[in-house]
Amino acid sequence: MSTPVSPTTSDTPDEPVTGAAPHRAVPPRDFPIRRGCPFAAPEEYGALRTEDPVARVTLPTGREAWVVTRYDDVRELLSDPRVSADIRRANFPALGEGEQEAGARFRPFIRTDAPEHTRYRRMLLPVFTVRRVRAMRPAVQARVDEILDGMLAAGGPADFVSAYANAVSTSVICELLGIPRENLEFFRDVTRISGSRHSTAEQVSEALGGLFGLLAELIAERREEPRDDLISKLVTDHLTTGNVTMDQLLSTLGITINAGRETTTSMIALSTLLLLDRPELMEELRHDTSLLPAAVDELLRVLSVADSIPLRVAAEDIELSGRTVPADDGVIALLAGANHDPEQFDHPERVDFHRTDNHHVAFGYGVHQCIGQHLARLELEVALGTLIRRVPTLRLAGDRDQVAYKHDSATFGLEELMVTW
Ligand code: HEM
Repeated sequence: MSTPVSPTTSDTPDEPVTGAAPHRAVPPRDFPIRRGCPFAAPEEYGALRTEDPVARVTLPTGREAWVVTRYDDVRELLSDPRVSADIRRANFPALGEGEQEAGARFRPFIRTDAPEHTRYRRMLLPVFTVRRVRAMRPAVQARVDEILDGMLAAGGPADFVSAYANAVSTSVICELLGIPRENLEFFRDVTRISGSRHSTAEQVSEALGGLFGLLAELIAERREEPRDDLISKLVTDHLTTGNVTMDQLLSTLGITINAGRETTTSMIALSTLLLLDRPELMEELRHDTSLLPAAVDELLRVLSVADSIPLRVAAEDIELSGRTVPADDGVIALLAGANHDPEQFDHPERVDFHRTDNHHVAFGYGVHQCIGQHLARLELEVALGTLIRRVPTLRLAGDRDQVAYKHDSATFGLEELMVTW
């Protein structure tokens, strides 16, 4: 395994920085910052945006980093070739030790730079084009109907997160990759452990090791007998040709599963909770289903579940809003901060399905922008549209105040959502 490629230099963060205006010597605040309202960015992001747009924070690992909250800065940072996503860098701002160590070991391509990153991204891109994803609609609809049939037949109350949101996102990924669906529970556990800030490196490695074991078996099967699925395609086009090694293929499949599952599960569950809280919005969609695509993008913007997924290191001094992020320091582009910036979005707190020019960054920006975004939009449209159409009596089964949120996960979401109908 490679050693860190860059030295630590941020142990003197109060020193004046060169280039742009020196940063005020404010003590770093703790990060992550919790949301008050589940359907908005943490309130503190507003103050940071106006008073301290490039702010120093202390991460749960004890390391320090910078967070960026303005829309323009977030886009500038994420498209700047001088930032690195390489998790092996000493100051990479991972939010948990487990993530950092396991990431350095398994090298998921989301946490690598060009040219390595470009190679893996190109390998996957053909599978996620608008055209390929559009062709998946009937299969996604069939899966969603089947899952909803199952939930309704079992009778309420039910935990919406596991019975519907997670079942939909996992089934779609399994279908895409060609993984038997009986592994649903297993995937949930893998993502929960690998995405939690409290997991140790051993726990993350063990969870990923289990996942890789399963994938390795499937790869061996597809080598013998290819099918019409992503695993077969990658095996035939890239593994047997020697373009990638077995370990690289496992890591690429692993990150595709992990990146696509938790985010989509959270979006389906949180969007449903928001619509249950705001029946006038639910009614609006029920009466005019043509609003669904715009509604999905507005929900993506408002909820910004992947808020602190874009973790980077400045490879050189980088100026943003007149401040400097010094070379070799970790920096996090806060997507919820950008998506709730009033300079970019009129009344960002409003959920408006008629919003025009909704150029949100819920899927990130720049070279690492979400590769699965067309698929995610399709899943959300079908999952929410079907639910609204088929279950008009859907309502919360428990106490609204008892709904538990995932504050300590890489993706913001719901632990559980008891519903009935
Ligand atoms: C609503 C659901 C989703 C959200 C909010 C989301 C969000 C994101 C964000 C913010 C990034 C960029 C991370 C960065 O810049 O460091 C990303 C990257 C990625 N996403 Fe998604 N994602 C979603 C669904 C999916 C799905 C369904 C898949 C695949 C099946 C997927 C696969 C990936 C992959 C492989 C990357 C890494 C791309 C790269 O590094 O080039 N995502 N996602």
